[in-house]
Amino acid sequence: MKNVSEKELTNFPVREIGPYIVTKLIGEGGMGKVWRAWRISEGSFKKILAIKTSKSSKKYIDLFMNEAKISARFEHENIVKTFDFGKTDDAFFLVMEYIRGIDLKEFILNVKNIPIDVFFFIIDRILSGVIYIHNFEGRQLVHRDINQKNILISWNGNVKISDFGITLPQHGDFDPFGKIGYVPPEVILGKGWSQLGDIWCIGVLMWEMLTSKKLFSGKGKEDLKKKILSCNIDPPSLFNKSVSEEIDKIVMNCLSRVPESRYISAERLQEEIRRTMSNLSIKPMYQEDFSLFISDHFSERIKKEDKEIAEEEAYVSIYAVEKNVKNIETKVENKITSKNSSSPSYYIFSPGDQKKERHHTEKKNDSGTKIRKIKRKKRDEKIFFTSSILGFVLGLTIGVFKGAYEIKSAEGLFKKGVDLAKERNFGQAKEFFQISADISDLREVRNIIDRLNTNYGKND
Ligand SMILES: Nc1ncnc2c1ncn2[C@@H]1O[C@H](COP(=O)(O)OP(=O)(O)OP(=O)(O)O)[C@@H](O)[C@H]1O
Ligand SMILES: [Mg+2]
Repeated sequence: MKNVSEKELTNFPVREIGPYIVTKLIGEGGMGKVWRAWRISEGSFKKILAIKTSKSSKKYIDLFMNEAKISARFEHENIVKTFDFGKTDDAFFLVMEYIRGIDLKEFILNVKNIPIDVFFFIIDRILSGVIYIHNFEGRQLVHRDINQKNILISWNGNVKISDFGITLPQHGDFDPFGKIGYVPPEVILGKGWSQLGDIWCIGVLMWEMLTSKKLFSGKGKEDLKKKILSCNIDPPSLFNKSVSEEIDKIVMNCLSRVPESRYISAERLQEEIRRTMSNLSIKPMYQEDFSLFISDHFSERIKKEDKEIAEEEAYVSIYAVEKNVKNIETKVENKITSKNSSSPSYYIFSPGDQKKERHHTEKKNDSGTKIRKIKRKKRDEKIFFTSSILGFVLGLTIGVFKGAYEIKSAEGLFKKGVDLAKERNFGQAKEFFQISADISDLREVRNIIDRLNTNYGKND
């Protein structure tokens, strides 16, 4: 892991959105921006996520709300998961699973002549996702936005559909248009979206995967609309000799201008694809095989992303720890400065109070207290001694396994804990030991916390 200086760390442009730490802009689409982000929480919990932030106009916010409501309920392996939705001062945000991978556009650009089994694998997974959406709660939903950029492919061979901003029931009052190069002819003619419109979009995707070309391109919206309505579509085999007649037939059926001439449902299309594969003796691919195929074609990309993510993880870990330490400091400061505080730890932490407490007990039972004091001193010395040794061991042990940041922070926090324990500030010391233990995961540090809990009580 790269050793990054403190200066770089301060300059690292992290931003917070709700409880999430945002690290990188990964894409920008019609509705807003997509960011890579992290959730860091108790016990070294770290999760990488994708956050989409909305554009601020009312039209986009409404679509965004629609996306949040619908996608939160989807539960399918071929659909990007949504975890959370929220609002900051200036934007709405949607929290999704982060797909380590690429979108289909990049896949097509990089893999020329997609092998037929790979083609079938991807289309079959897209269809499984579409079938789920079409049958979701019997609501007759239509995705309306199936295009290359909304299909995500992960390095481990998963294929997932994303973007549900305009996923709405078919023939509804509100019938948004979609991405122009993929909009079916009947929608351009004003007849509205039906589930057969999604079949058209899958037809466009299939055609583009098999030919590595765009099916419809033009100068501006009107030009594209004209082309979709008028141009004769050549079968994929014209551009790719390895495409058989049977596959041509499937693609051209999806691209029928009259919706009623297309497969009547995504299920029927999937059945036809599976039957054709079997007729052509094409062995279905497993996810593991597809993952190997991707690793072969994108090894440099994967390495680069892994490195980038590992560095980010280190950055955000220390960022979160620093923030946590600041929070603890503020918390303790508040306790000390609050005159009316009735928190039990305030009395233990306050040097004035410790004196008062000791003075009071000494007066009550002088000799008994002295014996207790000697015993207590010995026990404290033992803890401090063990702590100092462990401080050293900690640096060495986690130095082997952990990144520079984590060592630095775990060690630093541990030492601060030792200093506080020396001042008999056990409550605060424990908080530092706790974070240090969370970062380093060292059993020894947890043992010290347990020992402090046993000797001084959980609330000390
Ligand atoms: N959950 C995710 N994990 C990883 N990358 C993602 C995720 N969601 C989106 N992306 C990336 O961000 C890019 C932009 O996504 P976004 O959906 O905002 O725009 P778009 O697909 O280009 O346009 P549109 O808004 O028309 O769908 C995607 O193409 C993809 O590469
Ligand atoms: Mg998208």
